Parts: sequence; structure tokens; C-alpha cells
Amino acid sequence: MNALVVYDSLFGNTERIAQAIGDALAAQADVEVRRAGDVKPEDLTGLDLLIVGTPTHGGRPSPATKTWLQSLAPNSLAGIKVAAFDTRIPSQGASWFLSLIVKIFGYAAQPLAKSLAQAGGAEIVQPEGFAVTGREGPLQDGELERATAWAQQILAKA
Ligand SMILES: Cc1cc2nc3c(=O)[nH]c(=O)nc-3n(C[C@H](O)[C@H](O)[C@H](O)COP(=O)(O)O)c2cc1C
Repeated sequence: MNALVVYDSLFGNTERIAQAIGDALAAQADVEVRRAGDVKPEDLTGLDLLIVGTPTHGGRPSPATKTWLQSLAPNSLAGIKVAAFDTRIPSQGASWFLSLIVKIFGYAAQPLAKSLAQAGGAEIVQPEGFAVTGREGPLQDGELERATAWAQQILAKA
């Protein structure tokens, strides 16, 4: 099975989750973990499984993630199993302003999953979010382990 984990990351937190997912997938797949800006449309050829992760920015995927999603041709993910995740500040750590944004827009994983489905991908698990303790992180305790468990769920369905 050929798997690719694509991510964007400003402060390194989403990258750490992406690496943990890649390490777990490597038990059963040929896997690469790459930053969105380094992945060209032709790199998706022959792929069985695509995991995409983004920081949440204003309730949406980050600008670099959006740019990458826009580079996907219609139906370019047909025949590929896909899963989406984000990193986010959970409501107990958020300012009043961020809480309002979350209330209105939610988090990035859901719209990211929708974009992957619109490009023809077959969603394999529900979108997932991993918590950071503040804008620059670090990740909350236990999130890397949760990422490993999420990747194992994906493997069980792939
Ligand atoms: C411009 C900007 C907007 C953000 N907006 C949100 C938001 O709407 N909701 C949220 O939970 N976190 C928000 N955050 C915090 C990010 O979730 C956090 O920076 C990210 O998870 C860290 O991941 P990274 O280290 O991979 O960049 C925002 C951060 C930045 C820089």
C-alpha cells in the first residue's frame, strides 16, 4: 500500500502529528510524509491512501493547505482513500475572540475533509483534531499517542 501524509505547519505541531501518523502507517505501508508545498499533483499517481493535516486558521485550513487543495484537479483523488486532521486550540484554552471564531466557523478538519471528497477521495475515517496548548503549541500531553491510535484505525480500514 502506498501512503502519503501531506501537512502544513507554522510552528511544528502539525508536523509532529504528521510524523507520528507516518511512523504508525509505516508498519503496513510504504509511506512518505511531506509538506504541502513540496507535493505536486503528479505525486499522487499510484497512491492508495492520502492523509492531509493542517493547522486551524480562522476555523479553516491554513493558506498553504488551501493553495495545495486548489492545485488538485477535479477527480484527481478518485480511487484514493483519504483522511483529514487538524491541530487546534480547544475551547478551554481559547481567548473570547477565538471562542467566537470556533463557535461560528468550527475547526479546519471538516472543511478539509470536504475538499478532499470534492476532489474524488473516499473518506476512510471521520476528520480528527489534535490539541495544542496555545497558538505556537506545544501539543497537549497524549496527542502524539492519540495520533498513533488514529493512524492504526486508518490502517485497520485501508
Ligand atoms: C493566523 C492564525 C489563526 C488561527 N486561528 C485559529 C482558529 O480559528 N481556531 C483554532 O483552534 N486555532 C487557531 N489558531 C491556532 C492554531 O491552531 C495553532 O497555531 C496550530 O495548531 C499550531 O500548529 P502548527 O505548529 O503546525 O502551525 C490560529 C493560529 C494562527 C497563526
